[in-house]
Amino acid sequence: MKLEPCILVIFGATGDLTHRKLYPALYNLWREKLLPERFGVVSIGRREKTPAELRADITGSIERFSRTPHLAGVDLERFLAMFSYYRLDFNDLDGYAPLKRYLSEKDKIYGTAGNRVYFLAVSPEYFALIARQLHTHGMASQKGSWQRVVVEKPFGQDLTTAIELNNDVRRTFQERNIYRIDHYLGKEMAQNIMVIRFANTLFEPLWNNRYIDHIQLSLTETVGVEGRGPYYEQAGALRDMVQNHMLQLLALIAMEPPVALDTESIRDEKVKVLRSLKVTPEGVVRGQYGRDPAQRLKAYREEDRVAPNSVVETFVALKATIDNFRWAGVPFYLRTGKRLMRKYSEIVIQFKKLPGVLYFEDTRLDSNILVIRVHPDEGVYLQFNAKQLGTTSMIVPVSMDFCHNCADGLNSPEAYERLLYDVMRGDSTLFTRWDEVEYSWRFVDQIAQWWRGDRNIPIYPSGFWGPPESDLLLAKDGRRWLYFVRNGGS
Ligand code: BG6
Repeated sequence: MKLEPCILVIFGATGDLTHRKLYPALYNLWREKLLPERFGVVSIGRREKTPAELRADITGSIERFSRTPHLAGVDLERFLAMFSYYRLDFNDLDGYAPLKRYLSEKDKIYGTAGNRVYFLAVSPEYFALIARQLHTHGMASQKGSWQRVVVEKPFGQDLTTAIELNNDVRRTFQERNIYRIDHYLGKEMAQNIMVIRFANTLFEPLWNNRYIDHIQLSLTETVGVEGRGPYYEQAGALRDMVQNHMLQLLALIAMEPPVALDTESIRDEKVKVLRSLKVTPEGVVRGQYGRDPAQRLKAYREEDRVAPNSVVETFVALKATIDNFRWAGVPFYLRTGKRLMRKYSEIVIQFKKLPGVLYFEDTRLDSNILVIRVHPDEGVYLQFNAKQLGTTSMIVPVSMDFCHNCADGLNSPEAYERLLYDVMRGDSTLFTRWDEVEYSWRFVDQIAQWWRGDRNIPIYPSGFWGPPESDLLLAKDGRRWLYFVRNGGS
């Protein structure tokens, strides 16, 4: 598909996101010839930066973070020529009129006709301010061209602040031009969930409470808060991971087939799931990481700019249900946390046991299990029962395992590549619509409310699977957490 010309304007160009994700993603898109022919990037930051410094920044970030190494034969100069830097203090309201002139100049140079993607890679307190200035200075609604805005998470702190923020952004941009990022939706296997479900006779007929016993969704990490103390003190795992990534994956797993594959039809179905989600106070567990047994790693409370008596959760496990005909009675167990034993993201679908006849009369057989692996492996694993090889009649679990990214040299695109590409072509399917954000906050806010004022938080040692309460949550239902990650994870 040929993309229309445009300028990508990155607010927050000296920040972590731009370095780790945006520059490398642009580099890979460029190498794969997926950028518009007429295209430029304006990086905006508060600090002074000479053209040489900007080039060093971009080159450094490609070297460190790009999924494909920079090759000697590739003419990086042509790539770097697309970038320029503009210094702006976002609070300086006098700085926006000159910015407008600067961007118009760039339009003439690149032939981009006023089409813009404004990427707000800044801390959330600037979202509304920048959006308002873009509006005031006529940079967000230019006739005969399009302007889109990309907003990073967190989209608000709770429902009330999310509504305020949304109103602010909506004053400037129409809903169809607002791209709220949830980078999990850009991951290969997240995009694959719908295909696996709706393109296979094998799965969809069984995808309901008649055949599925329960579903587990784990997004676990080994890292701690990594210098993001102040942000994390406000967010905690509930707002950092559950409100967005986990609920989005859950919605894709549980939604009804959409009437069509267009953006709005898919989002309509996801919202219905989020609206029907239920949880009880007994169904939620939180925890916070302490040191590891060898005392080498800091406890959360010892991290930089974290309160020494903080009760912010770095771990959440919960049991949710979905009040509809398809899912009534099927528990969805979710867990996420930092400083756990492995970094992996997986969705485990455990099917019901067969009735106690035939092979099930006197043997306990394993259930069929389907695993959608999101990270580090990308693929699908299916476990079923078969006769053991040889003369015995023993039945054993066997598996079929499909791994996307295991083949040599196969390096799946980073989520941000797909997301940036989609913004430029105007496809918002992999971004969250306002009502999805709204219902996710409603779900999360009630849990935050239950925790308010409670200063008791279980502390778990770094490097384990979270607090014992998390195992108990499943043990009460006669179940346990499962994980299938190959090679023990990363
Ligand atoms: C981000 C969270 O949205 O997702 C981080 O803010 C978290 O705290 C990260 O580490 C996890 O993403 P991924 O792609 O590494 O699983």
